[in-house]
Amino acid sequence: MISRKSIDQVIDTARIDELAREYVDLRQRGANLIGLCPFHKEKTPSFYVSPQKNIFKCFGCGKGGTPVQFVMEAEQLSFPEAIRSLAKRYHISLEETERSPETTEEDKLKESLYILNQFALDHYVDNLWNTNEGQTIGLAYFRHRGLTDDTIKKFDLGFAPDLPDALYKKSQQAGFQKEFLGMLGLANDHDRDFFRDRVIFPIHAVGGRCIAFAGRIMTPESKVAKYINSPESSVYQKSKTLYGLHLARRSIREQNRCILVEGYIDVIALSQAGFENVVASSGTSLTEEQIHAIKRITSNILLLYDGDPAGIKAATRGMDMILQEGLNVKIALIPDREDPDSYLKKVGTDAFGKFLNEQSVDFIMFRLTVEMEGIQGEPLKKAQVASEIVRSISKIPDPIQRAVYLRETSDKTGIDESSLIDSCNRFLQEDRRIRSFRMQKDALERDKEALADLSSRGHSAPKQGDASSASDAFQEKDLCRVLMLFGDRLRETEPIIPFAQYIIDNIIDTLPLFEDATIRRVIEETELQLNEGNVPGLQYFIGHESQDIANLALEFTMSKFEYSSNWSDKMGIYLLTQKEPEENALEDIRQAILRFKLKKYNKFIAELEKKLKEAQYSEEELELELKSLQHIVIQRNEIAAMLRTVII
Ligand code: CTP
Ligand code: MN
Repeated sequence: MISRKSIDQVIDTARIDELAREYVDLRQRGANLIGLCPFHKEKTPSFYVSPQKNIFKCFGCGKGGTPVQFVMEAEQLSFPEAIRSLAKRYHISLEETERSPETTEEDKLKESLYILNQFALDHYVDNLWNTNEGQTIGLAYFRHRGLTDDTIKKFDLGFAPDLPDALYKKSQQAGFQKEFLGMLGLANDHDRDFFRDRVIFPIHAVGGRCIAFAGRIMTPESKVAKYINSPESSVYQKSKTLYGLHLARRSIREQNRCILVEGYIDVIALSQAGFENVVASSGTSLTEEQIHAIKRITSNILLLYDGDPAGIKAATRGMDMILQEGLNVKIALIPDREDPDSYLKKVGTDAFGKFLNEQSVDFIMFRLTVEMEGIQGEPLKKAQVASEIVRSISKIPDPIQRAVYLRETSDKTGIDESSLIDSCNRFLQEDRRIRSFRMQKDALERDKEALADLSSRGHSAPKQGDASSASDAFQEKDLCRVLMLFGDRLRETEPIIPFAQYIIDNIIDTLPLFEDATIRRVIEETELQLNEGNVPGLQYFIGHESQDIANLALEFTMSKFEYSSNWSDKMGIYLLTQKEPEENALEDIRQAILRFKLKKYNKFIAELEKKLKEAQYSEEELELELKSLQHIVIQRNEIAAMLRTVII
C-alpha cells in the first residue's frame, strides 16, 4: 500500500490544469477553467477545472475529482496505478507501507500476478543480455532485424532459452507459487515452461506494467506457430490491450494521431525510426475497447496495412465501429507486398515519413476507389458496393460529414445523390429503431430489478413516510457537507476545537439513525481520525480512495459556486445556506446540526410512539419508555425553537 502521506504529496504536487490541458482546450471563466469534457461527447462545455482547488468536475457526465481521479479516468488506471503514474511524472518517490487488510483477495491475487510477470520479464531480459546463448542467438536475432540496443531495452525484449524449465525452476527458487505460473500460462501442469527457444516480446498495460508475453521463433521456416501468446488472465485481456500503447501515448497526443499496425515488430521498428505514435492490435481486428483506449487520446487514426487483398479486408473489418465513434480514419496501404517494418527498411525513414503523409487517404474515399475498381460496368455489383459504403457513412455522427461523403460517393459512382441520401436515411432509421428497442429493454430490466429489490426487502409499495425519508437524506448530506467543507477549521469561540470535533460531539448519539452508508462511513472515519489526533479536511475527502466519498466531497466543493442556488430548490426543502458560507462557517454548521437533529429526533419520536402503541409493556417498562420519549420531545422542541429563531 502506498502511504497516505505519499498519496497526499502526489495530490498536492500534481496540477489539475496542467493534466487536463493535455486532453482539453480550456478557457478561463472566473476562477475556473472550462472546456469540452474529455470523458463524454458534448457540444457545449460543461467540464470545469478549478486550479485553486486542484480539482475538476463535469456537470454533464458527473465525473470529477483530484488529479488522481482525472488520470484514472483519462488513462483508465486503478487508483494505485494513477498514483504511481503521477509520482513518476512529478518525480515523487512513494513511501510504501504494508497492505491494508481491506484490499480484496482479488486485488492481492492480481498484485501477485503482476509481480510474477515482472519476475518473468526480468528473467527473459537477463537471459538475452547476460547469457551466452541469449547473446549469440536472441540478441543476434534482434540486431539482425535492425533493432538497436536502446530499442531492445526500451521494449524490454527478451529471450527464452531452449531449456524445458528454466523459468519454472528459477521462480520456484524465488518462492513463487506454482499455481500463479499456471494462471499466467508461463508453465504448464507438468512444470514445463511455455516459452522456450523463442525471443520474447513483453506486453504492457497502458500504465506500463507487464501483463503478458509473446514469443517468436527465430528460424524462418517452421511447422510451429510463428508467434505464441500468453493466455488471458485476470491481468491480461487481449481485447482491451494495444501493444505499445504505454510507450506511444505521449507521442499520440503530441501528434494528435495514432498509427495502427498489425505486428509487434512493426510497432518497434516504426518507433525506433521516430514514428513513436504507433500501436498494434496484435493480429486481430480492432475491438470496441481498443478504439475507446485510442479515442481517449486522439480522434485521428491512421491504419497501416498490407496492400494485398487480405490486408484490405482486414482494414475494412470493424471500421464501421470506428466511424461510429466519430473518429477520423485514414488508411495507407503498404505497397510491394511489404509490411510496415520491411517497407520502412526498404525505403528509409525520410521516404517512409513522406509516404505516411502523402499516401494516407480518407477511409471512405479509399473504399470508394478500391471497391469500385473494375466493377464500373456492372450496375448491380456497383449498387451493392455503394450500399455497403453508404451504410458505413451512416455510422458517422456528424451530419455535415455524412453529406460530404454522400456527394463524393455520388460523384465516384455516378449514382444519383438523392437516392444515396434516401438509403442513408433508411440506415439511420434502422439504427435508431434498434437503439430505442435496446433502451426500452434496458429500462424494463431496470424496473424488474427494482421491483425484485423492493420485494426482497419486504416492502410492497412506498408508504406515506416516503417524503420525510427523502428529506432525511438531505439532512444527512447537509451535515456531511459542513463536516467536509469546514471540519479542519478551528472554532473561534470556546471551546476552541476543530469544527469536525464540534460536529461529531453534537451528533454522535444519532449515528445509529444514519441511513446513508457512505455518510455514516464519513462520520465514523472522521471520529476515528480525530481520536488519532488527525483532523481530516476537504482535501482528505476529495482524495479519498472510496469514489463515493470523493464524489460527495467534490459535489460540495463545486456546487458552492456553480450550483448553490439550485441546491435547495432541487432538494425541495428550506435551506438557510449562507450567502458566503466560507465567511460564516459556524452559523452554517450550527444550522446544519440543528436541522439534522430535529429531523432525527422527529423520526425517533415517531418510532417510539409507534412502538408504544403496538407493544405490550409492563407498567414499569411503559413508564421508562414514556420518560425517554418525554426527554427527547423536550430536546426536540428546544431545537425547533432554536431553529425558529434563526429561520425567522
Ligand atoms: N500473430 C500472432 N500469432 C501468429 C501470427 C501472428 O499473434 N501465429 C500476430 C502478431 O501480433 C504479429 C501479427 O499477428 O505481430 C502480424 O503477423 P505477421 O504479419 O505474420 O508477423 P509480423 O508482425 O510481420 O512479424 P515478423 O515480421 O517477425 O514476421
Ligand atoms: Mn514483419
